[in-house]
Amino acid sequence: MTVEEAILYRRSTREFDAEKEISTEKVKRCLELASLAPNSSNMQLWEFYHVTDKETMKSLTRACLDQNSMKTAKEVVVFVTRQDLFYRRSKEMLKLEYEDIERYSPEDRKEPRRKNRKRYYGFLMPFLYARFVGLLGVLRKIIASVVGLFQPMTREVSEEEIYAVVHKSCALAAQNFMIAMAGQGYDTCPLEGFDSKMVKKILDLPYGSSVNMIIPCGIRTEAGVRRTQLRVPFEEVYKRI
Ligand SMILES: Cc1cc2nc3c(=O)[nH]c(=O)nc-3n(C[C@H](O)[C@H](O)[C@H](O)COP(=O)(O)O)c2cc1C
Repeated sequence: MTVEEAILYRRSTREFDAEKEISTEKVKRCLELASLAPNSSNMQLWEFYHVTDKETMKSLTRACLDQNSMKTAKEVVVFVTRQDLFYRRSKEMLKLEYEDIERYSPEDRKEPRRKNRKRYYGFLMPFLYARFVGLLGVLRKIIASVVGLFQPMTREVSEEEIYAVVHKSCALAAQNFMIAMAGQGYDTCPLEGFDSKMVKKILDLPYGSSVNMIIPCGIRTEAGVRRTQLRVPFEEVYKRI
Protein backbone atom coordinates (compact mmCIF):
# COMPACT_ATOMS: atom_id res chain seq x y z
CA MET A 1 0.00 0.00 0.00
CA THR A 2 1.08 3.58 -0.53
CA VAL A 3 0.94 5.87 2.52
CA GLU A 4 -2.24 7.39 1.15
CA GLU A 5 -3.80 3.96 0.69
CA ALA A 6 -2.87 2.95 4.24
CA ILE A 7 -4.38 6.17 5.63
CA LEU A 8 -7.57 5.58 3.67
CA TYR A 9 -7.69 1.93 4.76
CA ARG A 10 -7.29 2.64 8.50
CA ARG A 11 -10.58 2.72 10.34
CA SER A 12 -11.52 2.38 13.97
CA THR A 13 -12.66 -1.22 14.13
CA ARG A 14 -15.17 -2.22 16.78
CA GLU A 15 -15.32 -5.92 15.88
CA PHE A 16 -12.44 -8.14 14.79
CA ASP A 17 -12.92 -11.39 12.86
CA ALA A 18 -12.55 -14.42 15.16
CA GLU A 19 -11.46 -16.61 12.23
CA LYS A 20 -8.62 -14.39 11.01
CA GLU A 21 -5.26 -14.48 12.78
CA ILE A 22 -2.56 -11.82 12.74
CA SER A 23 1.21 -12.29 13.01
CA THR A 24 2.70 -11.27 16.36
CA GLU A 25 6.01 -10.61 14.61
CA LYS A 26 4.37 -8.22 12.15
CA VAL A 27 2.67 -6.35 14.99
CA LYS A 28 6.05 -6.09 16.69
CA ARG A 29 7.55 -4.71 13.47
CA CYS A 30 4.77 -2.08 13.36
CA LEU A 31 5.79 -1.11 16.89
CA GLU A 32 9.39 -0.69 15.75
CA LEU A 33 8.01 1.67 13.10
CA ALA A 34 6.00 3.43 15.83
CA SER A 35 9.26 4.15 17.64
CA LEU A 36 10.42 6.12 14.58
CA ALA A 37 7.68 8.71 15.10
CA PRO A 38 8.80 12.31 15.51
CA ASN A 39 8.84 13.19 19.20
CA SER A 40 9.66 16.18 21.32
CA SER A 41 13.43 16.68 21.74
CA ASN A 42 13.83 13.02 20.74
CA MET A 43 13.32 12.10 24.40
CA GLN A 44 11.21 9.03 23.53
CA LEU A 45 9.39 9.06 26.82
CA TRP A 46 7.19 6.14 25.80
CA GLU A 47 6.83 2.39 26.14
CA PHE A 48 4.77 -0.03 24.10
CA TYR A 49 3.22 -3.01 25.89
CA HIS A 50 2.42 -5.68 23.32
CA VAL A 51 -0.11 -7.95 25.02
CA THR A 52 -0.66 -11.42 23.56
CA ASP A 53 -1.37 -13.26 26.81
CA LYS A 54 -5.09 -14.14 26.83
CA GLU A 55 -5.60 -13.72 30.58
CA THR A 56 -4.01 -10.25 30.56
CA MET A 57 -6.14 -9.32 27.54
CA LYS A 58 -9.24 -10.40 29.46
CA SER A 59 -8.31 -8.21 32.43
CA LEU A 60 -7.57 -5.29 30.10
CA THR A 61 -10.94 -5.76 28.38
CA ARG A 62 -12.66 -5.28 31.72
CA ALA A 63 -10.51 -2.17 32.35
CA CYS A 64 -11.56 -0.90 28.91
CA LEU A 65 -15.20 -0.94 30.03
CA ASP A 66 -15.84 -4.20 28.15
CA GLN A 67 -15.66 -2.47 24.78
CA ASN A 68 -16.36 -4.87 21.92
CA SER A 69 -13.13 -4.06 20.09
CA MET A 70 -11.25 -5.36 23.13
CA LYS A 71 -13.49 -8.41 23.52
CA THR A 72 -12.79 -9.50 19.94
CA ALA A 73 -9.13 -8.37 19.63
CA LYS A 74 -6.40 -10.86 18.73
CA GLU A 75 -3.66 -8.78 20.36
CA VAL A 76 -3.56 -5.49 22.23
CA VAL A 77 -0.98 -2.72 22.43
CA VAL A 78 -0.88 -0.29 25.34
CA PHE A 79 0.95 2.98 24.67
CA VAL A 80 2.38 4.32 27.91
CA THR A 81 4.16 7.60 28.60
CA ARG A 82 7.21 7.49 30.87
CA GLN A 83 7.92 11.10 31.83
CA ASP A 84 9.56 9.67 34.95
CA LEU A 85 12.39 8.35 32.74
CA PHE A 86 13.42 11.85 31.67
CA TYR A 87 16.79 11.74 33.41
CA ARG A 88 17.75 8.33 32.03
CA ARG A 89 16.61 9.26 28.50
CA SER A 90 18.54 12.57 28.63
CA LYS A 91 21.67 10.63 29.50
CA GLU A 92 21.06 8.04 26.79
CA MET A 93 20.45 10.72 24.19
CA LEU A 94 23.54 12.67 25.21
CA LYS A 95 25.64 9.55 24.76
CA LEU A 96 24.13 8.88 21.31
CA GLU A 97 24.64 12.52 20.29
CA TYR A 98 28.31 12.38 21.37
CA GLU A 99 28.83 9.20 19.34
CA ASP A 100 27.18 10.84 16.35
CA ILE A 101 29.38 13.94 16.65
CA GLU A 102 32.46 11.71 16.90
CA ARG A 103 31.44 9.89 13.73
CA TYR A 104 30.25 12.70 11.50
CA SER A 105 31.42 16.13 12.67
CA PRO A 106 34.54 17.78 11.21
CA GLU A 107 37.32 18.02 13.79
CA ASP A 108 37.00 21.79 14.40
CA ARG A 109 33.20 21.54 15.00
CA LYS A 110 33.33 18.65 17.48
CA GLU A 111 33.91 20.61 20.70
CA PRO A 112 31.26 23.34 20.15
CA ARG A 113 28.73 20.68 19.14
CA ARG A 114 29.53 18.60 22.21
CA LYS A 115 29.05 21.69 24.39
CA ASN A 116 25.74 22.48 22.71
CA ARG A 117 24.42 18.93 23.23
CA LYS A 118 25.68 18.90 26.81
CA ARG A 119 23.71 22.09 27.51
CA TYR A 120 20.61 20.61 25.87
CA TYR A 121 20.52 17.05 27.26
CA GLY A 122 22.72 17.61 30.29
CA PHE A 123 20.83 20.62 31.64
CA LEU A 124 17.85 21.94 29.67
CA MET A 125 15.93 18.67 29.19
CA PRO A 126 16.25 17.47 32.81
CA PHE A 127 15.12 20.96 33.92
CA LEU A 128 12.16 20.96 31.51
CA TYR A 129 10.83 17.48 32.30
CA ALA A 130 11.36 17.42 36.07
CA ARG A 131 8.26 17.62 38.28
CA PHE A 132 7.87 18.68 41.87
CA VAL A 133 4.27 19.28 43.03
CA GLY A 134 3.82 21.94 40.34
CA LEU A 135 6.54 24.21 41.71
CA LEU A 136 9.16 23.50 39.06
CA GLY A 137 6.52 24.34 36.47
CA VAL A 138 5.85 27.69 38.14
CA LEU A 139 9.58 28.44 38.14
CA ARG A 140 9.83 27.54 34.44
CA LYS A 141 6.80 29.71 33.65
CA ILE A 142 8.40 32.70 35.37
CA ILE A 143 11.68 32.18 33.50
CA ALA A 144 9.84 31.76 30.18
CA SER A 145 7.82 34.96 30.79
CA VAL A 146 10.95 36.99 31.58
CA VAL A 147 12.94 35.64 28.63
CA GLY A 148 9.82 36.05 26.47
CA LEU A 149 9.93 39.81 27.06
CA PHE A 150 13.07 39.98 24.93
CA GLN A 151 12.79 37.13 22.42
CA PRO A 152 10.41 34.44 21.12
CA MET A 153 10.11 31.75 23.76
CA THR A 154 8.39 28.40 24.28
CA ARG A 155 5.55 29.20 26.68
CA GLU A 156 4.16 25.72 27.45
CA VAL A 157 6.49 24.77 30.27
CA SER A 158 4.26 24.21 33.31
CA GLU A 159 4.11 20.69 34.70
CA GLU A 160 0.67 20.13 33.17
CA GLU A 161 1.81 21.46 29.81
CA ILE A 162 4.90 19.25 29.75
CA TYR A 163 2.62 16.31 30.63
CA ALA A 164 0.65 17.16 27.47
CA VAL A 165 3.89 17.44 25.46
CA VAL A 166 4.82 13.88 26.47
CA HIS A 167 1.36 12.56 25.56
CA LYS A 168 1.42 14.41 22.23
CA SER A 169 4.60 12.60 21.16
CA CYS A 170 3.29 9.24 22.35
CA ALA A 171 0.10 9.74 20.32
CA LEU A 172 2.22 10.30 17.21
CA ALA A 173 3.87 6.92 17.85
CA ALA A 174 0.39 5.39 18.21
CA GLN A 175 -0.63 6.90 14.88
CA ASN A 176 2.54 5.61 13.18
CA PHE A 177 1.62 2.19 14.56
CA MET A 178 -1.94 2.28 13.26
CA ILE A 179 -0.86 3.38 9.78
CA ALA A 180 1.86 0.71 9.70
CA MET A 181 -0.75 -1.89 10.73
CA ALA A 182 -3.10 -0.66 8.00
CA GLY A 183 -0.24 -1.09 5.54
CA GLN A 184 -0.19 -4.79 6.49
CA GLY A 185 -3.95 -5.07 6.03
CA TYR A 186 -4.37 -5.21 9.82
CA ASP A 187 -6.96 -3.28 11.80
CA THR A 188 -6.88 -1.31 15.04
CA CYS A 189 -9.06 0.85 17.25
CA PRO A 190 -7.51 3.58 19.41
CA LEU A 191 -9.16 3.70 22.85
CA GLU A 192 -9.12 6.22 25.64
CA GLY A 193 -12.21 4.77 27.23
CA PHE A 194 -10.45 2.87 30.00
CA ASP A 195 -9.87 2.88 33.74
CA SER A 196 -6.23 3.97 33.86
CA LYS A 197 -5.81 2.94 37.47
CA MET A 198 -6.87 -0.62 36.64
CA VAL A 199 -4.67 -0.72 33.53
CA LYS A 200 -1.63 0.42 35.50
CA LYS A 201 -2.26 -2.26 38.07
CA ILE A 202 -2.72 -5.02 35.48
CA LEU A 203 0.53 -4.10 33.68
CA ASP A 204 2.34 -3.29 36.92
CA LEU A 205 3.24 0.19 35.66
CA PRO A 206 5.14 2.59 37.91
CA TYR A 207 3.57 5.65 39.54
CA GLY A 208 5.27 8.13 37.18
CA SER A 209 3.87 6.47 34.05
CA SER A 210 0.62 7.34 32.31
CA VAL A 211 -1.56 5.33 29.93
CA ASN A 212 -1.78 7.17 26.62
CA MET A 213 -3.86 4.90 24.38
CA ILE A 214 -4.92 1.28 24.22
CA ILE A 215 -5.08 -0.24 20.77
CA PRO A 216 -6.81 -3.58 20.19
CA CYS A 217 -5.69 -5.26 16.95
CA GLY A 218 -7.02 -7.85 14.52
CA ILE A 219 -8.76 -8.01 11.17
CA ARG A 220 -12.08 -6.25 10.71
CA THR A 221 -15.43 -7.89 10.15
CA GLU A 222 -17.76 -6.09 7.76
CA ALA A 223 -19.95 -4.95 10.64
CA GLY A 224 -16.91 -3.85 12.65
CA VAL A 225 -16.41 -0.61 10.72
CA ARG A 226 -18.90 2.20 10.09
CA ARG A 227 -19.90 2.39 6.45
CA THR A 228 -18.80 6.00 6.03
CA GLN A 229 -15.91 7.81 7.67
CA LEU A 230 -17.87 10.77 9.05
CA ARG A 231 -16.09 14.13 9.04
CA VAL A 232 -17.27 17.75 9.22
CA PRO A 233 -16.77 19.58 5.88
CA PHE A 234 -13.07 19.98 5.14
CA GLU A 235 -13.59 23.71 4.40
CA GLU A 236 -14.58 24.17 8.03
CA VAL A 237 -11.16 23.06 9.29
CA TYR A 238 -8.90 24.10 6.40
CA LYS A 239 -7.57 27.65 6.75
CA ARG A 240 -5.30 28.85 3.99
CA ILE A 241 -3.22 31.86 4.97
C1 LIG B 1 -7.57 9.43 21.45
C2 LIG B 1 -8.69 8.61 20.90
C3 LIG B 1 -9.54 7.94 21.77
C4 LIG B 1 -10.55 7.12 21.28
N1 LIG B 1 -11.30 6.38 22.14
C5 LIG B 1 -12.19 5.48 21.67
C6 LIG B 1 -12.85 4.58 22.53
O1 LIG B 1 -12.64 4.55 23.74
N2 LIG B 1 -13.71 3.71 21.99
C7 LIG B 1 -13.96 3.65 20.64
O2 LIG B 1 -14.75 2.80 20.21
N3 LIG B 1 -13.34 4.49 19.79
C8 LIG B 1 -12.45 5.39 20.26
N4 LIG B 1 -11.76 6.22 19.40
C9 LIG B 1 -12.01 6.11 17.95
C10 LIG B 1 -12.79 7.31 17.42
O3 LIG B 1 -14.13 7.22 17.84
C11 LIG B 1 -12.66 7.31 15.90
O4 LIG B 1 -11.31 7.55 15.56
C12 LIG B 1 -13.54 8.35 15.23
O5 LIG B 1 -14.89 8.06 15.43
C13 LIG B 1 -13.28 8.45 13.72
O6 LIG B 1 -13.46 7.20 13.10
P1 LIG B 1 -12.29 6.55 12.21
O7 LIG B 1 -11.13 6.30 13.14
O8 LIG B 1 -12.84 5.27 11.66
O9 LIG B 1 -11.92 7.53 11.15
C14 LIG B 1 -10.77 7.03 19.88
C15 LIG B 1 -9.92 7.74 19.02
C16 LIG B 1 -8.89 8.49 19.51
C17 LIG B 1 -7.95 9.19 18.55
